[in-house]
Amino acid sequence: MPLVTSKEMFKKAYEGGYAIGAFNVNNMEIVQGITEACKEENAPVILQVSKGARAYANHTYLVKLVEAAVIECPDIPVVLHLDHGPDFETCKACIDGGFTSVMIDGSHLSFEENIAVTKKVVEYAHDHGVVVEGELGTLAGIEDEVVVESGKESYTRPEEVEEFVTKTGVDSLAIAIGTSHGAYKFTPEQCTLNEDGILVPPALRFDILEEVSKRLPEFPIVLHGSSSVPQDYVKMVNEFGGKMPNAIGVPESQLRMAAASSVCKINIDSDLRLAMTGTIRKFYAENPSKFDPREYLKPARANIKEIVRHKLVNVLGCAGKADEIMALYK
Ligand code: G3H
Ligand code: 13P
Ligand code: ZN
Repeated sequence: MPLVTSKEMFKKAYEGGYAIGAFNVNNMEIVQGITEACKEENAPVILQVSKGARAYANHTYLVKLVEAAVIECPDIPVVLHLDHGPDFETCKACIDGGFTSVMIDGSHLSFEENIAVTKKVVEYAHDHGVVVEGELGTLAGIEDEVVVESGKESYTRPEEVEEFVTKTGVDSLAIAIGTSHGAYKFTPEQCTLNEDGILVPPALRFDILEEVSKRLPEFPIVLHGSSSVPQDYVKMVNEFGGKMPNAIGVPESQLRMAAASSVCKINIDSDLRLAMTGTIRKFYAENPSKFDPREYLKPARANIKEIVRHKLVNVLGCAGKADEIMALYK
């Protein structure tokens, strides 16, 4: 099975009340950790590459790594997606260079400019059999060079979504309902303490999601910034020389609710970074004389695999769903 677009995945995910995991990839161990979990759990997957990942690892290396994963996992559908495409040229390079899906992120532009650049990407992408994700509303955090300070983010305005989707022809829409990029999504002051002494972040704006979904029936919605920042890994990082005070993510229960609704794609990167960094820090601290990269990359890859497995089974609900999507291609 060659790389596929997300069209069939989103159709099934919408109907079935689950979401597809979109995990960022930057090197071989990350690609392997994610796809081994998906293969074992029979889950569809979106592997996504940011502008930063292309700059770090090189476009061709990343495409070839993903193609290798497709060969190793012939029974699950795999999408290769550009995450936060900054301009038409980058989207075109990915469309021409083997990607099956691109995001054009015009969320920092005016509404009219966002429509114009998104429409241009859609026209080129659709001519080449590639699907497009657009974005309305801005998330706090860092996406490559675009830094949106906390407090300067803006929720998606539901009254804009129909016009945006109709005028651009996008296949899916990322919206801002309170998630943000990175490991510091909420300050402790924004959270409340529960009876177990755990900080609970404010709820996502499900009212906005509901209003958007009403205006765009059966249309796939995307959530960025959806890492949950597992406290076990934050603790591991801090215990072994790291410094990540007050790292707080989106509660998994909130993501599960989103996945059960019109949200068909959930983006997760920071949690995999945390798993990898925590594991490697621990290894270094406990094995100061070791210097073979394979010895620390192996447990890092294994822990990426386990955290992805957990997401597929307990958060996204897409474990076991590869077959029903594969059947659509037969
Ligand atoms: O949205 C951001 C993703 O986590 C990718 O991050 O731009 O550092 O590769 P990056
Ligand atoms: P996190 O930083 O929450 O993992 O979000 C990743 C993301 O949205 C990639 O586009
Ligand atoms: Zn994102």
